[in-house]
Amino acid sequence: MELREIIGNRRSTRYLDPDRPVEIEKIQRMLEAARIASHFGNNNSVQALVVHRETATNEQVASLHSPVGGFQMELAPVVILWYIECDAMDEASARLRELVDCGALGYGPNKNKELEETLVPLFDRIGEALKGPGMPDMDCGQAVAQATLLAFEQGLGTCCQGSGDWAKVEAAFGFPESCRIVVAQTVGYPVENPDCGGQRPRLPFEQLFQLNSIDNPFPRSQEVMSELSQEKLLQPAAPLPGREEQIEGIREKYKLPGSGMI
Ligand SMILES: Cc1cc2nc3c(=O)[nH]c(=O)nc-3n(C[C@H](O)[C@H](O)[C@H](O)COP(=O)(O)O)c2cc1C
Repeated sequence: MELREIIGNRRSTRYLDPDRPVEIEKIQRMLEAARIASHFGNNNSVQALVVHRETATNEQVASLHSPVGGFQMELAPVVILWYIECDAMDEASARLRELVDCGALGYGPNKNKELEETLVPLFDRIGEALKGPGMPDMDCGQAVAQATLLAFEQGLGTCCQGSGDWAKVEAAFGFPESCRIVVAQTVGYPVENPDCGGQRPRLPFEQLFQLNSIDNPFPRSQEVMSELSQEKLLQPAAPLPGREEQIEGIREKYKLPGSGMI
């Protein structure tokens, strides 16, 4: 599958096979992709704890319950807890020095002056504020997005999950106070069609994107759309025929809520 088709197929996959284990190498590839995602100041605060439900404790698995579509946590053989290690910000100046040393910023002969007189003092000043929600969460989104593409490329499905009580999850897995979970990501082999029933609704392109002025919609070219449709990045809208019947069959098989069996 080409990258564009992978992006087009990257839908939240809620129905995963609870009985089919995920190869650990596939999870490693997802984590490798996350590790090389961009971080502001190269801070490396985005980290992940992988939960293998087969070997996790009952208390740990129970803590993961998600308020929206909670059945997913019962199906997924693997759940990745993506979190921010806030103390990473305390090392901001070391990370900046590495960034400058490896030539990423390219300040030329004055690079050490720029580093010590501008960059390091700036990050020292704002370091505490950077521990709060905002930029690190953006980094986390980038990391999860890259991991998600790798999951789909390897035939896996995933869905991000919120929680009504992250503190409970953090306690169950022994997180220190410096860590804050952002999202849980289920991972497994899909039991639903790879198209997941079609492209989920989105607001119109023109409403979402602008050019130069907030009231000037970004021009959407039909030619580009046809090209992307041909390459399967843009796909037919949900619901596709047969979706409801397929999901009902899966719900009955796994005795999920809503199947009329519970
Ligand atoms: C941060 C985040 C949290 C989400 N939490 C949940 C959740 O708790 N339960 C759920 O079923 N889907 C959850 N989703 C999936 C969204 O509802 C999904 O994006 C939406 O169904 C449509 O997008 P899709 O094209 O990925 O299917 C979450 C997505 C994100 C990015």
